Amino acid sequence: MQRVFSGIQPSGIPTLGNYLGAIRNWVTLQDNHECLWCVVDLHAITAWQDPAALRRQSLEMAATLLACGVDPVNHILFLQSGVRAHAQLAWIFNCVARLGWLNRMTQFKDKAGKDRENASAGLYVYPNLMAADIHAYHATRVPVGDDQRQHLELANDIAQKFNHDYGVDFFPNIEPVILGPAARVMSLRDGTKKMSKSDPSDQSRINLNDDADTIALKIRRAKTDPLPLPSEVDGLADRPEARNLVGIYAALTDTDHASVLRAHGGQGFGPFKNALADLLVQKLAPISAETNRLLGDENALIAILQSGAERAAAIADPIVSEAERLVGFVGLRRG
Ligand code: AMP
Ligand code: TRP
Repeated sequence: MQRVFSGIQPSGIPTLGNYLGAIRNWVTLQDNHECLWCVVDLHAITAWQDPAALRRQSLEMAATLLACGVDPVNHILFLQSGVRAHAQLAWIFNCVARLGWLNRMTQFKDKAGKDRENASAGLYVYPNLMAADIHAYHATRVPVGDDQRQHLELANDIAQKFNHDYGVDFFPNIEPVILGPAARVMSLRDGTKKMSKSDPSDQSRINLNDDADTIALKIRRAKTDPLPLPSEVDGLADRPEARNLVGIYAALTDTDHASVLRAHGGQGFGPFKNALADLLVQKLAPISAETNRLLGDENALIAILQSGAERAAAIADPIVSEAERLVGFVGLRRG
């Protein structure tokens, strides 16, 4: 069975974009893969995180994943900081990856923005840590949103250079798994920008813990254009906001843009937005109720993550020790 790894940052409340672009696909992959699901708190601190908020959001993210159907018994759910192998392998990868490769990463450019001099060094080597996350388990399939494709290419470049430099065939090639009509859910305020949990405007996104009224209000206020919905997919060209809402509807009903337009084409946005809000409430209310139930017993939640970290370490530690041996480290026993 192929091994799957994916990660999600606890840098805010998970959004509809995380759900449709990532989490929902994770649950499907559990049927026929061995899966590791990781809340990547080491990645989160590449940008400033208030410590109390980081702790809370890490637990909230874990609870949300469980509420969405992540299975912590037949698969593994854990926090990245709970398994030391990630940081150990990332250091080796910092010495394998080339500056030229990192300089091409568009996410660094986006996140560092104009004030590049003031970005953390961690943000710059973020893709190396991500490569370590995956390669520490010899995982070969990685479900991500479209925006992470470039990072996975870098992870493959790192594996190839490691294998080449040390004359081994140790790290396997990894394959991105990018699924579904909503692989990229866009902001409700700007159809050309990704919906993000770190966007300063809460109106730009649906949070998985928004209540019914908030969801309805955000959808009603979502940016659109004055034309009615087209009846053909071609009619969505140059209408990013319309395309986004139709894509969300399609993803939530497991269809595609064309069949949503067959049912709703010709309608104004008013009725379509009402239908979309109802659908969102129907899909998200059970998730937020279950998340709150899980957060009500913090000790039980931490016990799930503790067990996950121990099982993850049992896979990663021997792989990373072997990588260290290949590099030439003597390999002292660790206390
Ligand atoms: P992040 O929120 O950046 O930690 O991303 C966690 C996962 O959710 C990654 O696989 C992302 O590609 C995915 N993701 C985040 N935002 C979106 C979005 N707006 N649309 C689709 N996928 C997303
Ligand atoms: N960088 C990913 C994101 O922001 C999160 C992530 C960290 C990840 N490590 C990973 C995703 C390993 C897949 C595999 O979305």
